[in-house]
Amino acid sequence: MRKLAAGNWKMNGTGADLAEVAALRAAHPSPAVDILICPPATLLSRLSQAAGPAIASGGQDCHAAASGAHTGDISAAMLIDAGASYVILGHSERRADHRETDAVVAAKCQAAWAAGLTAVVCVGETEAQRDAGQTLGAIGAQLAGSIPEGAGPDTLVVAYEPVWAIGTGRVPSPEQIAEVHDFLRAELTARLGPRTASGIRLLYGGSVKPDNAAGIFAVSNVDGALVGGASLKAADFSAIVTALEDAPV
Ligand code: 13P
Repeated sequence: MRKLAAGNWKMNGTGADLAEVAALRAAHPSPAVDILICPPATLLSRLSQAAGPAIASGGQDCHAAASGAHTGDISAAMLIDAGASYVILGHSERRADHRETDAVVAAKCQAAWAAGLTAVVCVGETEAQRDAGQTLGAIGAQLAGSIPEGAGPDTLVVAYEPVWAIGTGRVPSPEQIAEVHDFLRAELTARLGPRTASGIRLLYGGSVKPDNAAGIFAVSNVDGALVGGASLKAADFSAIVTALEDAPV
């Protein structure tokens, strides 16, 4: 399995920020891990060209339909046309801002697969759920409901993003991350069998920074990261990529 360092630019970035991608490309001409950047849709085409062959690009969402009367939305085929090979689906910000349910995420995942994209499906508990001891229950339900039949290592990446750790500077302990990632692997194994499940990358996301990345990457069943704020600057994201390259297998 090749590990994955993924950046989610969220609603940040204009043409001027392509300089960061050029710097990242120059710093990692032949990376030992997969690198992915998911910019806003307006930048996807230009970023895909600036990133070069060693850095993949992806969307941050897609519509469940292949085309049609959906003003403002983007289809999976459009993402591919703009150079994407991945799409983030079910991010907690979309679940909250756009009321995306597990069923909606699963339908988008079907559309992404039909077009040939790898889906990065996000799951994660709120702080209230963690405080109530519902972390694994909430994540298990999201995982079961958000991923259609037929997932495999080439089509699915799962990102564990505790909602309370996103953009807050608060990071779960290594034990807390291990508990969830071991659970995710076990759930995928029960559903897909050990051969398929062992190849699916499990990313941790939520306040990953250059100074905490190595500790997170040492945790069992952590195969990479989904990075928000620290993916916007090449220097920070490059340090995280290097930490992942140096992480124990
Ligand atoms: P931050 O790294 O800014 O906490 O964001 C994490 C995230 O939501 C990535 O999808």
